[in-house]
Amino acid sequence: MVRTGVLIGLVLLSLLSSGQSAEVDQNTLAKITEVFQTRYQPSGETDSGGGVQYAVAINVPADQCGDTFSQNFLSQDDSNTVKQELTANHLYQGQHMVAATPKGVSSTSKIHSERALLMCAGFNQAVTPVQNLLNKDRGGCVVFYTYNSPCLEYCLNQTKDENERNRETKQRERAEKKGKPVNVAPAVAKCILNSLSMLSNHNGPKAFVFSQVYRNDINNPELAAALKKVAEQVPLYKCTTNSCVKCLNNNEIVNQCLS
Ligand SMILES: *[C@@H]1O[C@H](CO)[C@@H](O)[C@H](O)[C@H]1NC(C)=O
Repeated sequence: MVRTGVLIGLVLLSLLSSGQSAEVDQNTLAKITEVFQTRYQPSGETDSGGGVQYAVAINVPADQCGDTFSQNFLSQDDSNTVKQELTANHLYQGQHMVAATPKGVSSTSKIHSERALLMCAGFNQAVTPVQNLLNKDRGGCVVFYTYNSPCLEYCLNQTKDENERNRETKQRERAEKKGKPVNVAPAVAKCILNSLSMLSNHNGPKAFVFSQVYRNDINNPELAAALKKVAEQVPLYKCTTNSCVKCLNNNEIVNQCLS
């Protein structure tokens, strides 16, 4: 009995020291960002001359996110294949990585790349691409990367989703009251905040990373509060190919993450 107790103690201790909530090494995170930007960023430019938006999630063996970084990182996810898929606006689902670009043209029907990875596209899709990736290695190191910060208007806007759900309910009730056939457009959720729980619940080290504030949201007074909702669920960083800043410090979003 005593031995079993000691054994359980040791196992617990090693779980704790291997870091249930271990964070990704920040220097490594910058190197990972460099890999994304140099190997996987799809070609093209926005109207304002910036790089195009894309989002990537990886799940790699946890030791690869420590302070040793291998040049063979993500060697099973071929750079040209991924770029081609992203340039064609296809969802890429590989061995250690899923990636997407925004899809669709009109602002209301557009599927933003973060949503394409974190949320289900249709009713017949049971598991999101990121959940699928997490299931492959529950202790792996997970980095969710988006070139631009998630947009305030849709991706971080819980009010818009609530309004949409209310709109659907009301229209449905009205049609039913009149005894008319119910022909109501279903509410489509676009806010990623609730979906981040799958990252919070992941056992391995994890990080949510962006490289620049989305240009439409710079100077928006709501940005700090919205990013805080992300950072409270997953450690949030702003990373260039050289360095990273942790966005939450003393319960506040630091200025470098707001501009
Ligand atoms: C969030 O959605 C609501 C409802 O559509 C809208 O009034 C508000 O401006 C949106 N917030 C942002 C920051 O775009």
